[in-house]
Amino acid sequence: MKKDVCEKIGIEYPILQGPMAWASDSKLAAAVSNAGGLGIMGIGFAPADVFEAEIKKVKTLTDKPYGCNLLNFLPNADELLKIIIREKVPVVELETFPAFFSTLPDYAAKLKNESIIVIGKASTVEEAIINEKAGVDLVSVKGYDGGGHIFGMTGTFALIPQVVDAVSIPVINSSGVADGRGIAASFMLGASAVEIGSRFLVSYECPVHDNYKSAILEAKEGDTVLTGASVDDAVRGLRNHLAEKILQIEKKYEKEEAAKKIQELCTGALRKAAVNGETENEGSVVVGQNVGLLKKMQSAEEIVAELVKEYTQILSNVSKRL
Ligand SMILES: Cc1cc2nc3c(=O)[nH]c(=O)nc-3n(C[C@H](O)[C@H](O)[C@H](O)COP(=O)(O)O)c2cc1C
Repeated sequence: MKKDVCEKIGIEYPILQGPMAWASDSKLAAAVSNAGGLGIMGIGFAPADVFEAEIKKVKTLTDKPYGCNLLNFLPNADELLKIIIREKVPVVELETFPAFFSTLPDYAAKLKNESIIVIGKASTVEEAIINEKAGVDLVSVKGYDGGGHIFGMTGTFALIPQVVDAVSIPVINSSGVADGRGIAASFMLGASAVEIGSRFLVSYECPVHDNYKSAILEAKEGDTVLTGASVDDAVRGLRNHLAEKILQIEKKYEKEEAAKKIQELCTGALRKAAVNGETENEGSVVVGQNVGLLKKMQSAEEIVAELVKEYTQILSNVSKRL
């Protein structure tokens, strides 16, 4: 397997578990790190006390490198930054919005001064270049097909090689990978590592409600939809009643009015699905286009081991296919 990202971070496999709000806590991240990958806690939206407690907890669950995300546009970002530095978090995934690109170099520098590895997150070639210029060590790139918020309209297969050609830092493919084939393909496209979200939603350690996991296991190819794109707040998730309501609002109202209505409807929607198990009317079941590949519950350790095994088998057979 490609080793540049492994050497940089100090992990065995170039398999990162992406930060997921309400879905990747200390337990999941530690399990992935203990299995040889890098678990990243999606706690950047949490209040400072929860954020700090999760960091303290992950340290009791693993002695391997782990990460958390930090969102530079939130009012408590500086407070969380101080906790990250005090607790010596080894890896931080730094997330931003275009309106906050100007403060990216400052956050990257403050983290790097403490020898913390900084992963930027981008959805376009332009954003990847902005991240590289801001000084991040690695850039995680998410295509149109990935789970979560979608900021670019280019699919992974076309996006990754264009980013690889445009930057000189290692590129991590953060969309669409659910098995060893996805890892092999990512490397062929020039990525140095993969960042996986959706596949880890159906792990025993993932904290989301059982209804959320069942909805994913029952879904098939084509069951996700992008909502909110017309109001610059695109999210990919299962097509349920909430998603249909959002799509109708987008059709019916002008942008400003639609944005207001969608915000009212969607505030807390991921929490309602992930924590309360409300997966139809009020909750948003966020997941990627690869949902049809997610067919069984496993431990995070089993997932990482299976990914590595499949990837290795593919490589040993690849010359026969070409
Ligand atoms: C439920 C869920 C929540 C997510 N929350 C975040 C988040 O808070 N911040 C972030 O940068 N990415 C978030 N993501 C995106 C993941 O970190 C990762 O980029 C993506 O899931 C990879 O694509 P995949 O789902 O096809 O594996 C989320 C994804 C999911 C499925």
